[in-house]
Amino acid sequence: MRRVFIVLFILIAAIQFLRPERANIPEDPAKHIQSYVKVPEDITKILIRSCYDCHSNTTRWPWYSEIAPFSWVIADDVKSGRRHLNFSEWGTYSQKRMGKKLYQIAEVAGDSSMPLTSYRLTHPDAKLSSMELKMLGTWAEEQADEIPDSDDHHEEEAPHM
Ligand code: HEC
Repeated sequence: MRRVFIVLFILIAAIQFLRPERANIPEDPAKHIQSYVKVPEDITKILIRSCYDCHSNTTRWPWYSEIAPFSWVIADDVKSGRRHLNFSEWGTYSQKRMGKKLYQIAEVAGDSSMPLTSYRLTHPDAKLSSMELKMLGTWAEEQADEIPDSDDHHEEEAPHM
């Protein structure tokens, strides 16, 4: 029994050296969604509270994101989240993509699939009420409708773009 613990301890210690990248890329305000889309203050608050940790370059890394294996899972979510939708790099999107992302935000607000369940469990404050989800969805859809050339949101997107 004791040997099992020692081996386990060594293993846990050893994996701590496998550190995922947890960088916060400096923000360019000119590229931020706030420079392109009208984002009222209450929506900004929702995005900061529930979305920016995975969908912006200003992630607030929790203390346990230092500890493997949580560090791997969290870094992975952030990496994938940023790749799918990055509010800090909105300005790099084509108009068409901006429209599509806004419709997708309306979609995830509609089926309350965001933030991810794992995040909701570890961040109870990030859970959005049905009122907030409705606000977010309405806002995203209105903004998407304002973007010309974005009316093809039913088109399937290539996987993992
Ligand atoms: C814990 C990290 C995390 C948080 C917090 C989070 N997301 Fe996500 N989000 C992801 C990941 C990872 C994906 C891509 C893969 C998936 O769907 O699981 C994603 C996908 C999406 C997509 C789909 C984009 C696409 O290309 O299909 C939208 C839209 C989205 N998130 C919006 C939001 C909004 C709005 C919030 C806040 C209410 C939010 N997310 C909070 C991690 C997160």
